[in-house]
Amino acid sequence: MAQASYSPGLEGVIATTTSISYLDTEHEQIVLRGYDLIELARTKRYTEVAYLTLYGHLPSAAELAGFEGQLREHAELPGEVYRLLDLLPRRMHVMDAQRTVLSFLAGLEDPESLKDTSVEANLRRGVRVLAQMPAVTANAYRALRGLPRVRPDPSLGFSEGFLYMLLGSRPDPDAVRVFDLTLVCYIEHEMPNSTFAARVIASTLSDLYGAVVGAAASLKGPLHGGANEAVAHMLLDILRHGGADAAEAYVVERLRRGERIMGFGHRVYMRRYDPRALLMREFVPQLAARRPEGEELVRIHQTVERVMHREKGLYPNADYPAGLIYYLLGIPIELYTPIFLVSRTAGLVAHVVEQHAHNRLFRPRVLYEGPRGLRP
Ligand SMILES: CC(C)(COP(=O)(O)OP(=O)(O)OC[C@H]1O[C@@H](n2cnc3c(N)ncnc32)[C@H](O)[C@@H]1OP(=O)(O)O)[C@@H](O)C(=O)NCCC(=O)NCCS
Repeated sequence: MAQASYSPGLEGVIATTTSISYLDTEHEQIVLRGYDLIELARTKRYTEVAYLTLYGHLPSAAELAGFEGQLREHAELPGEVYRLLDLLPRRMHVMDAQRTVLSFLAGLEDPESLKDTSVEANLRRGVRVLAQMPAVTANAYRALRGLPRVRPDPSLGFSEGFLYMLLGSRPDPDAVRVFDLTLVCYIEHEMPNSTFAARVIASTLSDLYGAVVGAAASLKGPLHGGANEAVAHMLLDILRHGGADAAEAYVVERLRRGERIMGFGHRVYMRRYDPRALLMREFVPQLAARRPEGEELVRIHQTVERVMHREKGLYPNADYPAGLIYYLLGIPIELYTPIFLVSRTAGLVAHVVEQHAHNRLFRPRVLYEGPRGLRP
């Protein structure tokens, strides 16, 4: 074995080669299949970028129509899933419900065909999972809250239909546009913990469902996707305790106690602005009037950002504006990280496809610090 070096948290370690995406911090760009993700978010909708992520090129009009048709066709859930949702413990987090349903969906497939890890089989399976995720997510939430089911509406596009199911009512076009943009921002981001988890699982030639389930468990954590929910809770906490005028003292006190402010910092960007956060931030002011406390929350949001930069030199990551945007759109907070997972499913599927196509088992080593030579 070549002499290995140790990097805590695998910081800076190259885990794999990939043709999917790359954080080019030097040029402040997130490269997705050769394109700048921010430019894609400004000009394309989620389904177009999902197609690009999965198939490696932007779709022609016919390819997009076919892809959107498939997403529509598979959007409804098998009846057994609704029965499963009724059995979920009411205190369960929606993300845990998502991964439970994903495991259940795997169980509905023929065990033999699940072993097929070819590109075609993975893409077929992956598109079906992506199509089902909005209904899984909205209905898991609704079942946990004792609300009636909402069925996918085939007359609506992917993002509009998803937002409709999350809200339980028809969203307006402005809301759909911003929501769609956040989904593009979340779609794929190189090698975060969840994607790494998915690739580690896929590298045993385990199936796509297992890889996405593992990624969901990773994404739930507050140091990762869970941060968007933590951001909304923090903003509301500040609102209840003095509002924008109290925001500065709130942040300073938390930092003094050694606490982290969620939505700031990033392993790769750390002392730079996350390009996705910069983009999403643009859309915050136009949403403020949607809720009575919106303007005040926006002021709190701006103050916390200013103080974090002054005190710690840290910038927001994508979860910072996303948490506020989803709140202003009227989406219940416990759905924010599950929404992230729905969007990221496209990226995860692409990574599982790539891992299976050029597989080598992940199996790192350790620096052993325990005792030796003990006798039983
Ligand atoms: C994302 C994150 C886990 C990256 O962590 P990391 O690369 O392991 O960096 P570290 O945890 O070693 O942090 C480095 C330094 O920055 C500080 N720091 C990083 N993020 C911070 C935050 N959000 N609030 C306060 N301090 C923070 C750490 O305290 C540490 O300071 P120190 O060197 O004085 O001890 C970290 O920035 C964080 O916890 N952020 C908040 C959660 C979040 O928003 N996650 C979503 C990421 S997309």
